Amino acid sequence: MTRVLKIGGSILTDKSRELQPRPDEIRRVAQEIAAHPDDVVLVHGAGSFGHIPAKKYGLPQEFNREGLRVTHRSVAQLCEMVIEALSHAGVEGLPVHPLSCLCLRDGRIENFFMEPIEEMLKDGIMPVLHGDVAMDATGKAAIVSGDQLVSYIARYLKADVVAIGSNVDGVLFSGRPLPRITRKELSQVQSAIGGSDEVDVTGGMRGKLLELLDLADLGIDSMIFNAGIKGNIARALKGEYVGTRIGGGN
Ligand SMILES: Nc1ncnc2c1ncn2[C@@H]1O[C@H](COP(=O)(O)OP(=O)(O)OP(=O)(O)O)[C@@H](O)[C@H]1O
Ligand SMILES: [Mg+2]
Repeated sequence: MTRVLKIGGSILTDKSRELQPRPDEIRRVAQEIAAHPDDVVLVHGAGSFGHIPAKKYGLPQEFNREGLRVTHRSVAQLCEMVIEALSHAGVEGLPVHPLSCLCLRDGRIENFFMEPIEEMLKDGIMPVLHGDVAMDATGKAAIVSGDQLVSYIARYLKADVVAIGSNVDGVLFSGRPLPRITRKELSQVQSAIGGSDEVDVTGGMRGKLLELLDLADLGIDSMIFNAGIKGNIARALKGEYVGTRIGGGN
């Protein structure tokens, strides 16, 4: 059973303060993942390690070489923290930095060298990816969100479980998480779906939902759930729908 799990930077970091990890949350998340580690591709969000430097350097609207380097360096640091916590929890993971194995065109993944990820899964190693800066064939500076990575990888691997954990109980409408959303219903609720309350250069909840609706169009349902609530990650990894289900499957 192949599973693609994203844990939002909103959980692993304090998004209001640059380079501010939440070590206790990183540890807890690692322990929850370690309870169901098989065939999991882990993607983590960039949180304040990515969104704040990116915004400071005007990425992705402006091409700024120093901004690309500094932003990549800090998200890679967060990735190391996640891998270290996984190792303490008994899971061996390895970093797969999107900057070095994929290329975008107009902000969308065009080529992605997936073989290292597939080999790691075969060898019982957890691939750990993250929202990152990336090269774009159009020559623009670019950012690839963890949410886009989830959608691409889930499609490529034909994942059985696709779960995006964030700091909210799902896609909220009138203050409550919708149990399910399909593209047909999007127009009725989209006015309530915004970006992020914090700095987020990849579209917050709206960005997340649009990526997952694309995936649902291909017949792969997913969920957006609250990874800040203990036990939810385990439930999601077991394939139980937690939070909001995206897609109209059975
Ligand atoms: N209708 C909505 N339902 C739920 N959250 C919403 C809604 N509209 C806007 N949001 C915002 O989206 C945020 C979640 O997206 P955000 O991108 O900030 O987190 P993340 O993806 O977990 O973090 P990162 O991008 O660092 O991985 C919520 O905290 C909330 O502020
Ligand atoms: Mg986000």
